[in-house]
Amino acid sequence: MDFISQPFNSLEGKITWQSPSNIALVKYWGKYGDQFPQNPSLSLTLSNCHTTTKVEYKPRKSNSKKYTFSFLFEGEQKPDFHPKIEQFLDRIAPYCPYVLDHEFIISSSNSFPHSSGIASSASGMSALALSLLSIEKERVGLTEEQFLNKASFLARLGSGSAARSIQGPVMSWGHSPFIEGSSQEYATHINSGIHSVFSDYQDTILLIDKGQKKVSSTLGHQLMEKHPYADIRFKQAHQNISRLIEILSSGSLTDFITLVEHEALTLHALMMASNPSFILMHPGTLEVINKVWEYRKETDLPLCFTLDAGANVHLLYPKSNATTIQQFIADELAMYCQNNHYINDQIGDGAKKM
Ligand code: PMV
Repeated sequence: MDFISQPFNSLEGKITWQSPSNIALVKYWGKYGDQFPQNPSLSLTLSNCHTTTKVEYKPRKSNSKKYTFSFLFEGEQKPDFHPKIEQFLDRIAPYCPYVLDHEFIISSSNSFPHSSGIASSASGMSALALSLLSIEKERVGLTEEQFLNKASFLARLGSGSAARSIQGPVMSWGHSPFIEGSSQEYATHINSGIHSVFSDYQDTILLIDKGQKKVSSTLGHQLMEKHPYADIRFKQAHQNISRLIEILSSGSLTDFITLVEHEALTLHALMMASNPSFILMHPGTLEVINKVWEYRKETDLPLCFTLDAGANVHLLYPKSNATTIQQFIADELAMYCQNNHYINDQIGDGAKKM
């Protein structure tokens, strides 16, 4: 697909998008070139954790700077975000030359607390990509499919995992022979062959550590370049994708739990085996994992965990077990969270235009 916009005259307007976070079940860890993934990944799109971004735009009066924009986060000017946005604009400008002809006021806010340790890059970059692309859609017209694919393509250039936040509830990104239409360039949703047990899956996010993580994902991805286990990991991720597709269709929660937890621990094992090695889990992360294992042994309830690149724990379970499991979380796990803080979320359908 050719993602380069046709030229059009600059115009004035505003647009707002709300875009959710997502949690990977098969993880993306390792990239090459223009943010291409070394292996395919598969995620659940969330619902309550989202970023809302308003973009006000008007024709740009030329000046010495390359781009003209201001960025407000929760109502306040945030110049420290400028380099990240400039890098994003640099990456998307070949496909969206209109970012050079307009000036922008970008106002963003998150539904989750700013310093919660929840990565806001997926929701933030996807909301910004959608808002900017809406200008093109209005002017030159794009089909729904072109719009969604290009939005995911642009979001990917901001942050890889952001590619998977455009739609939901189950998204894949990266080419897999087992997923029709899958692409290295953008994510697509898997809308058939998903068992009903997953249709209302819950994700309770335990905020074990709300601080800034010590090693960025960018560095983590880079360390996969010379990682001793890289090849075997990328091969394993391919196998896990094909296995997970079967599991999502059969509805076997036992197999789901085994695969999802193994993926989470493999991600962190890769970090520990990197050179230099690093650990993002905290003592509370390990306490929670052990409690989840004990609880499952005692109750046989299908509660499992996954982790992203940080100390926080995502607890996954079907809605039919929510009352019992949320009681367990409040009684036994909240104590490992900073200020007893956790967020109940669930799977969702993706970004919304406001
Ligand atoms: O999108 P990035 O570059 O922040 O990388 C995300 C990596 C993981 O969250 C650990 C895994 C994933 O697939 O989302």
